[in-house]
Order: sequence, then C-alpha cells, then structure tokens
Amino acid sequence: MCGIVGYIGQDQSQEILLKGLEKLEYRGYDSAGLALLNDDGVYVSKVKGRIAALREAVDENKKATMGIGHTRWATHGAPSHENAHPHQSASGQFTLVHNGVVENYMEVREAYLPNVAMKSETDTEIVVQLIEHLNEQMNDVAAAFRKAVDLLKGSYAIALIDSQNPETIYVAKNKSPLLIGLGDGFNVVASDSMAMLQVTDQFLELMDKETVIVQRDAVTIQKPDGSKVDRDPFTAELDATDIEKGMYPHFMLKEIDEQPFVIRKIIQEYQNENDEIKLDPEIRQAMKECDRIYIIAAGTSYHAGLLGKQFIEKLANIPVEVHVASEFSYNMPLLSEKPLFVYISQSGETADSRSVLVQTKELGHPALTLTNVPGSTLSRESDYTMHLHAGPEIAVASTKAYTAQMAVLAILAVDTARAKGIELEFDPMQELGIVANAMEALTDQKEAVEELASEFLPTTRNCFFIGRGVDYYVGLEGALKLKEISYIQAEGFAGGELKHGTIALIEEGTPVIGLATQEKVNLSIRGNIQEVEARGANSCIITMKGLEKDGDNFIIPKVHELLTPLVSVVPMQLISYYAALHRDCDVDKPRNLAKSVTVE
Ligand code: M6R
Repeated sequence: MCGIVGYIGQDQSQEILLKGLEKLEYRGYDSAGLALLNDDGVYVSKVKGRIAALREAVDENKKATMGIGHTRWATHGAPSHENAHPHQSASGQFTLVHNGVVENYMEVREAYLPNVAMKSETDTEIVVQLIEHLNEQMNDVAAAFRKAVDLLKGSYAIALIDSQNPETIYVAKNKSPLLIGLGDGFNVVASDSMAMLQVTDQFLELMDKETVIVQRDAVTIQKPDGSKVDRDPFTAELDATDIEKGMYPHFMLKEIDEQPFVIRKIIQEYQNENDEIKLDPEIRQAMKECDRIYIIAAGTSYHAGLLGKQFIEKLANIPVEVHVASEFSYNMPLLSEKPLFVYISQSGETADSRSVLVQTKELGHPALTLTNVPGSTLSRESDYTMHLHAGPEIAVASTKAYTAQMAVLAILAVDTARAKGIELEFDPMQELGIVANAMEALTDQKEAVEELASEFLPTTRNCFFIGRGVDYYVGLEGALKLKEISYIQAEGFAGGELKHGTIALIEEGTPVIGLATQEKVNLSIRGNIQEVEARGANSCIITMKGLEKDGDNFIIPKVHELLTPLVSVVPMQLISYYAALHRDCDVDKPRNLAKSVTVE
C-alpha cells in the first residue's frame, strides 16, 4: 500500500526520492508524488499513475538537498492528481505525505477546521491543515506536529516538511510501517529499507506513537510524553541485488524460479550440525504446552495455514483452527484453555492480522509469527518469530513466500511431534530436499506450462480449480494466483462439492483444472473431472508420478504425499504467470492490489 520516502543531506534529493519510490512500487499504488524544498520554497509534483509518469512530470532541473515522496493506494477519494500526495496546508507552509487511515478525520475537521476549504477528498489533507492550524496557535512547529498526531486516531506514517525550515523533516508513526535510515551527513525516511538501500543499510526502527525530528546530522526520537529515546540502528540484511530483476522479465518469474533455493536455505537455517531441527526452545515449549493452535492469516498466507493445519494435526496431534484474519477480529470463536496463536504473514505488516494480534495479546495469549520480514510489526509484537528465509518477495502475487511458509510449518510440526515423544518416520529435511529437486524439475518445464496456459486460458472469462483434501487447498491458491494477476474470474472448489451447486456453472469450453496428487482421492477427483467433461468442460489434470493416467496434462515428480502442495503449486503459479502475460497484464503490479496490506 502507500509508500513513503524522505531525504535530507548534501546530495540532490530528487533522484534519490524517485529511485526510492521505484523500489516501493511493488507495494501497489495508483498515484505518486514528491516535494522538494530549497531556497526558492517548496516544489511539488504529482501524478495519477506510475512512477515512470512522475519521472516525466518532474522538473529535472530542480535542485534541492531535502524532500519527501509518496506512492498512494487510494482509500479516501479516487486515484487522481488532486488526491495524490504530497498535500499542502492552506498557506502552503506545510507539505505532508501519509500512509494509513485516519479514522477520526471527520471529527477533527469539524472540531478544528470548520472553515478551511479542502482541495482533496483525502483524510491526509485534514492532517496537514490541522498542523497549520495548531501552529498558528502555538507558534512552535514541533509542538504543533506532536499535538496534531496526538489528536489522530487510526493508522499513520507521516513525513512533513515546513517551507520555513529546510533543516528538518518531521516524522510520526502509529501502526503503519516507517523506518529512519542513517548516513554520513544525511538521513532518510522510508516505509521499507529496500527504498533506501541505495544510500544506507543502517536503519532505526520506530515504535507506535513516536515522533521524530530528522535533520542532516541528527535524528531525535520522542515518545508521546516528550521524553527522548536512544535506539541502536540495525543493519538491513538485504543485498541490493536481491531486489533487482536481473535477467528476468518479471519479479514473479524470478521468484517462482527461486523456490528450490529457498527450500534448501530453509533446510540449512533450521538444521544444526547434528542434523537435528534447530528451533528456539521457547517456541518448542509453547507448541508443546498449548491445547489448540489458532492460525491467523490472509490471502495466500491463509492457504498456507490450511496446509499447516494438516501438518500439525497429522504429525503432532494438536487440534488446529485456521481463520481468515479479517473475520476473526469480529467473530472470535470460543477459545480453548491454553491457545497458541500462530500468525502467518509474508510481509509481517498485514493490518487485519495485526488487529487480531492486538486483541489476543490483550487476552494474554502467546503468539508466534511466521514471516519473511523479521523486524516487521507482527514479528516485533509477537512473543516468538520463525523466519521464512525466502528473500525479498517483490511481485504482488506471492509465490516463494507461500512455499516457504509450508516448509517452515512442516518443520515446526515435526519438531513439535518429536518434542511430544511422537515417533515419526518422516524426516522433514530429507523430504524437503526431494521437494527442492522436484521444484527445479518443474521450473525447467516452462515451455510446456506456457503451452498449457495458451491452450486452456487464452480468452476465457472464468476458470475453476478442483481437488480433494490438500489438493483442494492448492486449488484455492491456484485460483487466487490466476485471478489476481490475469483478472480471469477463478474459483477453487472441493471436488465433492461440485454436485451441490457449482456444476451449474460448467458449460461448453469452461476450463477446469483438476489436481490429483493424493492416492486416496485420485479416483474420486478423476470421477469429478469426467462429470465436468460430460458437460463440456475443457479439463486439465495435474497429477503426481505414480498416479498418472493416459492423457494427463502435467505430471509432477514424486515427493512425500504430505508435501505435494509445495510442488503441485508450481505449475499453478506458472500457468497464472503465462495467462497474465498472454493477456498483456501487468504481472508484478496487478491493478488495485497492494503487496503489503497495511489498512484493515
Ligand atoms: O503479507 P501477508 O502474507 O500477510 O499478505 C497476505 C495477503 O495479502 C497476500 O497473501 C495476498 O493474498 C497475495 N497478494 C497473494 O498473492
């Protein structure tokens, strides 16, 4: 969702800000803008559309050694030039960018700004006008800034510049991610370290409700009570090349191809020199002690959670419930006596999951987060974290983080089983090694998948995925992948449910992708495929070596039955990729979607 960058130093800031915004493009946005401050005053440029359009719109001759920039994902008001950030106060003294949702913006407007004419439909403009209004009364910008953020309810990451003070960027954060990057003679502000890796790898985390004065040579963090905070920086463990596409046309294809390496990395990271599972003993204890696990997640991470339930229940014999985060918030089920909450989130920033975490922490329940971003909000606020080690995932469509989530869940399940004294024949590291090889064999067959995609999905309006057991869950993920990047209306169904309604949707030529990787349901799902074929469906079967029949379209190599989802999802990811490509869709940045969903 929205992204923020800021720079104050000695160098020309415009290019640094534009490059930073380009690195935030992956988060999803629909307009962008920047503001520069120099002796001539503030220069603002903004556009509806991509950073490439902003690059064309800006005056490249503008020189300024400080500025702020923004990518906006519309919440209040349509994507437009007027609603794009930065927003300015009535007199033009203050210029501000904001990420998040100010829940009480109408109340603030009525109470403090009844006579101020607004130029946009955004909640953000209220904030910058409020700061100006408070500064008129207090004549102290820092104090007015602190007072203003104190009045706000909801989520915000804010960067503000004052045209009368080119020495300072004012920053505040609550619930939305924001970091300060440190340099020699300069400092930066960024929603994500990726944006500013171009100039520094040293970053300061900010806690909710803190305000920060960022200057060229100093960064001062204050708590809401005005007391100063000393905090050590951390080093962003990212290589700038990790966030480049390299030879690949799209990040999604690169990330699909990286999956075997990610699985091998996970094996390495979660195994000690005696080939035992390496895990924080406190996590082991928490898993052992709980009487029920509640997995909370959204989207693709929710689909990984469904498979996590299978691993944990089958191997470790602990009951597991899997909940969509946004529903759980309003609809909390009766909890067991000793619940353990497991949050699964690639970004670690998903607001829906965070809202559940806040609730369950208030109830005193322990929380474990599985995330690809260890310093993220969910990770910081949970008791324990397991890192996915997938490397930065830039494409909006999650691929390698999903398979990493399943691999880490399988390891966690086996470790818990062993800790409970359950004897297993299943060696997760060995089996995951086989999975990595199988994934490699599949990513080498791109041409075959491309052909399949052009045969099955060239102009179709819709597409169905069917499976039973874990294949059903992979079908849900296949459908989500296809719809989010190709805009084909796609749904996943349990094979057995077809006759209870869905089969009415099947007509001549309807594409149906059937998954048949589980021996015990192989014949029944094939029966379902025949039923849809009899009604004209254009079917395609993905199966596993050993279960194949004449005419099957794609045979995945043999892996342990429990782990087939890690492999069978690869052709699904590739089918979606090629379907989107053939339809000229923006594969990495699908319309309306954001990588990091930081508003509820
Ligand atoms: O960062 P998270 O894993 O918490 O994100 C959850 C969903 O927003 C995410 O998985 C989304 O469904 C992806 N775009 C799917 O490809």
